[in-house]
Amino acid sequence: MSALETTTCKATRWPGVIRAYATHLPVTAETPVVTLHEGNTPLIRVDNFVRAIEGDFELYLKYEGLNPTGSFKDRGMTLAVSKAKERGASAVICASTGNTSASAAAYASRAGMKCVVILPNGKIAMGKLAQALMYGATTIAIEGNFDDALRIVRELGETGKVEVVNSINPVRIEGQKTAAFEICDVLGRAPDFHFLPVGNAGNITAYWKGFREYQAVGKADRLPRMFGYQAAGAAPIVDGHPIADPQTIATAIRIGNPASWQSALAAAAESQGHIGKVTDEEILHAHRLIARSDGVFVEPACAAPLAGLIRCVRDRLIPKGSVITATMTGHGLKDPDTAIQSAGVQPLVVRPNTAAVMEVIGL
Ligand code: F0G
Repeated sequence: MSALETTTCKATRWPGVIRAYATHLPVTAETPVVTLHEGNTPLIRVDNFVRAIEGDFELYLKYEGLNPTGSFKDRGMTLAVSKAKERGASAVICASTGNTSASAAAYASRAGMKCVVILPNGKIAMGKLAQALMYGATTIAIEGNFDDALRIVRELGETGKVEVVNSINPVRIEGQKTAAFEICDVLGRAPDFHFLPVGNAGNITAYWKGFREYQAVGKADRLPRMFGYQAAGAAPIVDGHPIADPQTIATAIRIGNPASWQSALAAAAESQGHIGKVTDEEILHAHRLIARSDGVFVEPACAAPLAGLIRCVRDRLIPKGSVITATMTGHGLKDPDTAIQSAGVQPLVVRPNTAAVMEVIGL
C-alpha cells in the first residue's frame, strides 16, 4: 500500500453553521438563514511548533481565519443577523475592535439590512477597516476605546430602533459555540486543554458552553480545561479591575472592561482552567514562530494563547501526551502593518539582474 492512504473524504457543500448544527441552536424552520457558509474550518496539527517550544503533546489549531470574513465572528453573526431578520429588524449595530464590525457588515449586506459600526479611531487593523467600508457599513470612528463604543451601542440598543449584534446579544454566543462542536467532531473526542485569546470574553464563554453541551448529549467524552489569555496591557480579568486605557499591539483584544467577564471567570473555574496574561513581546514572538514553524499566519491576538502555552510548557503544567486545541481567531492578513513589524525583516531590494539576486542569496 502506498504511504499516502486514499482518503474517502470528498468535497461537500457545507451549509454553514446554522444548518449544520440546527438542533443545538435557537432556530426553527421559519428562521431565514443568512449564511456565507461559515464554519467547517480546518483543525491543523502543528508538530513543528510543539517541537520548537519543547513540548511533548499534540497541538491542533482551529484556524478560524478561514471563515468568510477572516475571523470566528462569522459563526455568531450568521445567527445574530438571521434572528434579527426573523424579528423584522432593518438595521444592526455593533461596537468593535474590527472583526465583529467586518462580520456584521458582511452578513447585514447579505440580509439586505443596514449596518452601523462604531470603532475606536486609529486602533483598527487596516484589513478590518477595509472590510467595514467595503461591505458598505456606516462606519463611525469615535475618539475613545472599544469600551466607550460598547457603552454607546448599549444605549442605542435601548431605543429599540436597532438590533445590537455584539456578544451581549446571547445568540452570538450560541453561534460561536459551534466551533467547540466541530473540534469534538473532527477529533472524535474533546481535547484535554483548550487555549484561546480573551478580549470581550464572549468566545471563551461560547466554547465552554459548546463543550459542556456536547458532553451532556454524549457527543464528547470529557471536558477540556479552558486556558484564556489577555494582553498584559489590557488584562482586566487577570488584574481584577477594569482598565481605563488598555494598551496592546494585539488591537483585537484591546479591551478594558469585558462584557462577559463573569462567565469567563466561571469557564476557567468550572474547568479547572486559567486566565492569564502575556506581554506584547511574547505575543510578537509567538506570532512569528507559528508562521515560521508551521506556515500558519494569524493575527496578533491569536498569538496570546500560544505565548501562554509557551509559559505553561516552561512551568511544566502540561502532562505528556495531552491533546490540546487552540483557537486562531483571525487571519494574519487582517493586520499587515503589525505583521511586517513582527517579521522584523524587509524585502531585499536589488538591481534587476540574475547576478545581483545570486549575490544577495549567497549563491
Ligand atoms: N481574537 C480576535 C481576532 C478578535 O477579534 C477578538 C475579539 C478576540 C480574539 C477576543 O474574543 O471578545 O470573544 O473574548 N474581537 C471583538 C471585535 C472585540 O470587536 O472584533 P472575545
